[in-house]
Amino acid sequence: MKTDILVIGGGIAGLSFAIKIAQKRSDLRIDVLTKTVENESNTRYAQGGVAAVWDFDKDSFQKHVEDTLDAGDGLCKQSIVEIVVNEGPQRVQEIIDWGTRFDKHGEDYDLGREGGHTENRILHYKDLTGWEIQRALVAESKRYANIHIHEHYFAVDIITQHHLGWNITRLTPDIECYGCYALNKKTGEIETFLAKTTMMATGGTGQVYKNTTNPVIATGDGIAMVYRAKGRVSDMEFVQFHPTALYNPSGDNPNFLVSEAVRGFGGILKTPDGKEFMEKYDPRKSLAPRDIVARAIDSEMKIWGSECMYLDCRHLDKEAFYAHFPTIYDKCKSIGIDPMTDMIPVVPACHYQCGGILVDEIGKSSIKNLYACGECSCTGLHGANRLASNSLLEALVFGHRIANDTLEHIDSQEIKKGIPNWNAAGTTDPQEMVLITQSTKELKDLMSYYVGIVRSNVRLKRALDRLFILYRETEDLYNTTTISPQLCELRNLVTIAYLITRSAATRRESRGLHFTTDYPNEQPFLQNTIL
Ligand code: FAD
Ligand code: SIN
Repeated sequence: MKTDILVIGGGIAGLSFAIKIAQKRSDLRIDVLTKTVENESNTRYAQGGVAAVWDFDKDSFQKHVEDTLDAGDGLCKQSIVEIVVNEGPQRVQEIIDWGTRFDKHGEDYDLGREGGHTENRILHYKDLTGWEIQRALVAESKRYANIHIHEHYFAVDIITQHHLGWNITRLTPDIECYGCYALNKKTGEIETFLAKTTMMATGGTGQVYKNTTNPVIATGDGIAMVYRAKGRVSDMEFVQFHPTALYNPSGDNPNFLVSEAVRGFGGILKTPDGKEFMEKYDPRKSLAPRDIVARAIDSEMKIWGSECMYLDCRHLDKEAFYAHFPTIYDKCKSIGIDPMTDMIPVVPACHYQCGGILVDEIGKSSIKNLYACGECSCTGLHGANRLASNSLLEALVFGHRIANDTLEHIDSQEIKKGIPNWNAAGTTDPQEMVLITQSTKELKDLMSYYVGIVRSNVRLKRALDRLFILYRETEDLYNTTTISPQLCELRNLVTIAYLITRSAATRRESRGLHFTTDYPNEQPFLQNTIL
């Protein structure tokens, strides 16, 4: 398959970029790969909404910039924060023009509030904002005949000079991307996609932990592919745990999210005996930034020896609560909790990867002809802790910037000749799937116990020792077994776990989302961890 533009991923980052290109150039072919169906992505599950300065009487770009920098705890790139905040409202207006609906009060948008925001600036569609955005983007992309969405295509590796027989190391200058090898899940064949330019938009890494709000597709494939191709990744230790996933004793994968917007609406965090506890940890109480609230809940769970803490919404108006949070209300009821008469049991769960493929201010990675956008990228916006509802915004702003840069250069780019087809020689069908499923379970357990909300040198060392064993076993399996999505995901998750753990071990301080009992304070001058 030869194309002008290859997009790996069909969430908000991949689709908004594809639409922007198609709007300007109907003569360019754009191929979008998604590993399951076209509407399955992290984007689809976003609840709270998109943060953007909308009410200029009360809010300002300066306030949004300051809130983002404050949450990022000293590691945000200020120039990137300013770009995203200032360009954000125009990008949000574009998705409204493409058919995205946000809730209104009369003529004005109903702006919500979430932790770390000093003003109401979250545009939302009930508690289903992501579903609505994904719906609108898929519908809009169908209007362009030159956008081709391929469902059930699993990108396995990007193609570089390595596939032409070169010996590529992390020090090789000018590594180039020529496209990717992708597994057609329906035929089981690996197909070669060659492109003038490639955009990585594969989303998050949440499935590396046992408890996560991320859907099962979130296995960090893009970050792992780029790291294997010797591209640069950064800030991987900053894994955001959402403070309030619904605690369901019978277990869910993914864990259902109880949006931070519920706290913005007046929900209060409480101990099992119904007492508030957040004032012990931060004057902003239940609406402090996520890193602080997640650690506070974790600490109270340890004090109480309890499996969860509670979110009290019993004082809120039932009709208004249901109008804003119908999905959350129905989900709670389905497991026997009535938010109007019972406190909602909540537990922190892995939610967002702040780090990823290192990119510059227009989304270029360290590999030539390869951009990255959305959750798989690290732009410098989030620093050590992402401000709530800034990620959908980041994907839109960078999707637009990458589209402009692509359009400027595409006519001078060529498709590489002489790329070999995938070589599956020497592999046989897997005899025992249990080898893959058990290793995946082991990996999630070790990440949850040793590299979770609270870390220490001993735990990180233990995790790295175990990870080396899992790495060797998985590589052996990969080199001898016919490729399957499960095996590729395990291989990618092992890489992601290694990147998180090694970055965490390198950071000898506590900052933002990274807290270690061995270095409980921030150190001056510590910079981003680039691997
Ligand atoms: P995704 O939307 O995850 O899309 C990834 C795409 O890549 C998918 O199409 C997938 O099939 C494809 N893909 C992955 N690997 C491969 C592969 N190997 N081959 C081919 N295709 C592949 N953010 C906010 O700003 N506001 C919110 O309110 C909010 N709420 C959230 C609630 C939940 C429950 C979750 C999980 C996240 C939330 N987030 C929120 C975060 C936000 O939704 C994500 O960061 C964002 O949607 C990521 O978009 P993306 O386009 O980068 O990736
Ligand atoms: C939420 O609704 O709490 C999630 C918002 C986000 O992750 O940005």
